[in-house]
Amino acid sequence: MSEYIVELRDTTKRFPGVVALRGMHIGIRPGEIHGLIGENGAGKSTLIKVLTGVHRPDEGHILVNGQEVHFRNPNEAKDAGIACVYQELNIVKLLSITDNIFIGRTIEKKSRLLDYKKMHQMAHDVMLSLGQDVDPQKPCGNFGMGVQQMVEIAKAVLFDAKLIIMDEPTSSLGENEVGQLMDTVRELKARGIAILFVSHKLEELFELCDRVTVMRDGEWICTEDIADMDNDKLIQAMVGRSLSNLFPKVQGQRGAEALRVEHLKSAGVLRDISFAAYRGEILGFSGLVGAGRTETFRAIFGADPLDSGKIYLDGKEARIRAPLDAVRQKVAFLTEDRKGQGLVMSQPVKTNLILANMRGFRKGPWLDERQIREAVAGNIKSLSIKTPSADETVSKLSGGNQQKVVIGKWVNTDAEVFIFDEPTRGIDVGAKIEVYNVMNRLVKEGKCVIMISSELPEILGMSDRVIVMREGRVMADIGRDSVHFNAEDIMKAAWGGAL
Ligand SMILES: Nc1ncnc2c1ncn2[C@@H]1O[C@H](COP(=O)(O)OP(=O)(O)OP(=O)(O)O)[C@@H](O)[C@H]1O
Ligand SMILES: [Mg+2]
Repeated sequence: MSEYIVELRDTTKRFPGVVALRGMHIGIRPGEIHGLIGENGAGKSTLIKVLTGVHRPDEGHILVNGQEVHFRNPNEAKDAGIACVYQELNIVKLLSITDNIFIGRTIEKKSRLLDYKKMHQMAHDVMLSLGQDVDPQKPCGNFGMGVQQMVEIAKAVLFDAKLIIMDEPTSSLGENEVGQLMDTVRELKARGIAILFVSHKLEELFELCDRVTVMRDGEWICTEDIADMDNDKLIQAMVGRSLSNLFPKVQGQRGAEALRVEHLKSAGVLRDISFAAYRGEILGFSGLVGAGRTETFRAIFGADPLDSGKIYLDGKEARIRAPLDAVRQKVAFLTEDRKGQGLVMSQPVKTNLILANMRGFRKGPWLDERQIREAVAGNIKSLSIKTPSADETVSKLSGGNQQKVVIGKWVNTDAEVFIFDEPTRGIDVGAKIEVYNVMNRLVKEGKCVIMISSELPEILGMSDRVIVMREGRVMADIGRDSVHFNAEDIMKAAWGGAL
């Protein structure tokens, strides 16, 4: 018997212009929670796709219970007991929970008709066992990300997965949902199911994992008991050097008021929002999921309607009816949903990077190719976007590198107000620092930077001032030099407590 339930040996996977895996190996023990970490583009998702039959490796061996297997497609991997919850969920929102769970694997009655009653019952029971009391006949789209993810897990559990792989499962969840997912993962382990857990959040790995494997540039770096690791050791293994300062905060120099809003209201979402943001400062927005932070800025940006309220830019009342009005008045909005609103996936990196500022790159009636080439090369370098070339299609980039392209796209505009919504979600620790440095540069140039973030360390590490929201209202406005500028007080305000 092998020590491992699933093992990958000496595996290489090449894409045009990239070696995504280079002699990579990993072994997962039965019933363990095994963390996998590495920089954006290190090859984590590719490793998963090899293990789940999506990609065929160019070289190497996959062993299940010590026996070599050759997956020709994802179904063969599923049949071998390997299931995966992908970075971008595979849920069909219009279909019911039951349909999503049984997609491609229907239970047949003797009559050869689908036995929906039985399927609904099974779907309900398995969701309940994962702590979700939901009606399985309802469309998945009716539920939040947390439930949709549980549907993917339910699928795996119901079909007897021995290994469930989770690719950055917490990156699209709120705090409560993260807690639930962690409980579920521990519960799965208790049932003897092994978990391969990919995350950029070191705290999660320390909290959850038994062992961790670090990879860099497609290669294996180390596999250790998590108890033998600490933050510094993990980062050192991951990026090949130690990072002394995770938050390179440069003290802002507050300038003139750039954006002010008064009494923004919209039915059911914004109760009454007023605040001002200044040039030369990073204004953090904190709060629980559902506090209305993204909604506030979608409304300011003209993406959602307002019932009432006023918006001022540089002290003058602004009319913003649609995002284009906002862009024309030099407001940039980096959305949290990179696939939905940030990028044109079928287009090259280069095109995406200049997308928000085509006019700025014009020379007479044509685009200035040389200026574009220089700007794009600058973006790729300053954000360390890992891509074979500026002409690579964005869909081919790793998740984190796609996020960096979204950031580059907006930095290339001549905007004065930058709204960053969860800018470092899904980005590795080294690249986070690069994103923070971009923000530092912007405020130094006298721009106004607003950063919505669910990560308290990031809010505390980078903001000059933080506004805390709850249920569509501003609860607190705390300067960096205030006694309340700490995690406890920010959380207290987020939960509705008085400071
Ligand atoms: N289908 C593909 N075609 C071409 N190149 C690809 C493809 N999939 C991945 N790559 C490349 O392989 C490398 C590894 O990508 P992968 O998605 O495995 O990284 P990752 O470790 O998951 O990164 P992240 O943390 O950003 O999600 C990257 O350079 C990426 O651009
Ligand atoms: Mg990935």
